[in-house]
Amino acid sequence: MRVGFYTTLAVGSGALAYELYTARHPPAQFAWDPTKKTIAVLGSGWAATSFLSGLDTENYNVVVVSPRNYFLFTPLLPSCTVGTIELRSIMQPMRYLTRFKKREVLFVEGDCKEIDNENQTIHVVDNSEIVGQVSEQKIPYDYLIVACGAENATFGIPGVHEHACFLKEAWDAKKIRTRLMDCLETAAFPGQTEDEIRRILHMVVVGGGPTGVEYAAELHDFLHEDLLDWYPDLAGKIKITLVEAMPHVLPMFSKQLIDYTEKHFAHNKVDILNNTAVKKVNQRDIVVQDANKELHTIPYGLLVWATGNTARPVVQNLIKSLPSTLQNQRRGLVVNDYLSVLGAQGIFGLGDATATKWAPTAQVASRQGAYLARVFNTIGPMDDKSADAAAVKAAVEWVGPFKYEHLGSLAYIGGDRAIADLPIGVHIGGALTYYFWRSAYLSNLFSMRNRVLVAFDWTKKTVFGRDISRE
Ligand code: FAD
Ligand code: NAI
Repeated sequence: MRVGFYTTLAVGSGALAYELYTARHPPAQFAWDPTKKTIAVLGSGWAATSFLSGLDTENYNVVVVSPRNYFLFTPLLPSCTVGTIELRSIMQPMRYLTRFKKREVLFVEGDCKEIDNENQTIHVVDNSEIVGQVSEQKIPYDYLIVACGAENATFGIPGVHEHACFLKEAWDAKKIRTRLMDCLETAAFPGQTEDEIRRILHMVVVGGGPTGVEYAAELHDFLHEDLLDWYPDLAGKIKITLVEAMPHVLPMFSKQLIDYTEKHFAHNKVDILNNTAVKKVNQRDIVVQDANKELHTIPYGLLVWATGNTARPVVQNLIKSLPSTLQNQRRGLVVNDYLSVLGAQGIFGLGDATATKWAPTAQVASRQGAYLARVFNTIGPMDDKSADAAAVKAAVEWVGPFKYEHLGSLAYIGGDRAIADLPIGVHIGGALTYYFWRSAYLSNLFSMRNRVLVAFDWTKKTVFGRDISRE
């Protein structure tokens, strides 16, 4: 019995040590092969990393283009706006993935500005702070995977870009965290008038989708778990308001969970203004229209804008260059059942960059990436140019069309409560669901490294509280 236990322990520790060692010492790779087809991938998000993880690079050269050199686990991004989790814990460098592929993968940190469908090239620009003598390139491809996500929708409402913070990228979360602490310290500045203190401490969130709800929830927790102790004179004056144009928040959740969330927010003193649409954003206030079409002005100190997605300029330009009878969606690229972009040649579209019947979520994007990798792995070697189209056709027929099975939706609503809409008809909310939410996200993180860091952050927050320094 004892011998068995010690043997298992020794084998387990050995395997873990080997895994940790190999994670830091990638093996040699095959070199770039000019005789092979080149796949260019735009993006380093959910769809792109899932595609790359699944792709067997033996038969292809791969080039990845993205303005950020890491994958970001977006479901935990709201937690980074108040320091529940540190940003780097949910980031995974792309090279930790590409260095483990069979063949060398070329990673280019840059923005794809233009896709030339006819000549099969992409125009890439280095937009980072440090720019060398060469800062733009035309890169040829045989196949292009457009997985560059979407950008924040503003519906042309004036002042949003100038005055609001978004919540999509790592730098957005960092900006929100810094501004939030700035609001508190500015409100604490000697001589500040009572009206001004109340304005500065009014945190307004626009958009009652899951992003807005989860951010408001994190803000509530920060206020109650930390700020009350460190800013005792100010914390009572902090007000959180969620503004939603539709009659209720979280339209994609079941009615039961919408009611539960709205009641929970009311109990936590987070105000929800339903049926209220923001019409204009000024530096210190927003103009909103209520259900009676009356306009009101609401002063704010920090404004977070989360009203959904719209297509990125590079995607909009590609849409314009393709036949308008096939590409007629402003939301993104129209693809067929095999994720091939209609009207284009050798271009596939994945995730938020596309307009499909599915919601723009990480679940859909990663499943599409895995599906397309399976298609390319099935195609196999393509040495004869004339046989390409037939090989692709045979592969997609073999793999079949993309099918999506929804696993359910989860959202954190603050005060150690979460909600879950599961496809088996289960709609649950509460403290137990919160532990389910935590374990689901912890197990879905990209790597063991990410899981250890996030678990450590949660423990650190419980023991020491959140850090209130302003970076
Ligand atoms: P992204 O993951 O956004 O990746 C796009 C990539 O393209 C990025 O690497 C970007 O840098 C890159 N890129 C941008 N412009 C260019 C360019 N010009 N050229 C090349 N590359 C470019 N979904 C869920 O299912 N569950 C959740 O709990 C959940 N929580 C979320 C929380 C937040 C705060 C947010 C914002 C979203 C959340 N989502 C969630 C939605 C989910 O994050 C998206 O649906 C998912 O990221 C889409 O994946 P994608 O690969 O299409 O795009
Ligand atoms: P969303 O599109 O889900 O919600 C945006 C909300 O903003 C809508 O309810 C809309 O009515 C409202 N709105 C639009 N214009 C407005 C205005 N002018 N004034 C007031 N309200 C306005 O957007 P969100 O939350 O950014 O999510 C984007 C995608 O990411 C969705 O598909 C969502 O499902 C997914 N996501 C999923 C999460 C989860 O599963 N936990 C978390 C975050 C995002």
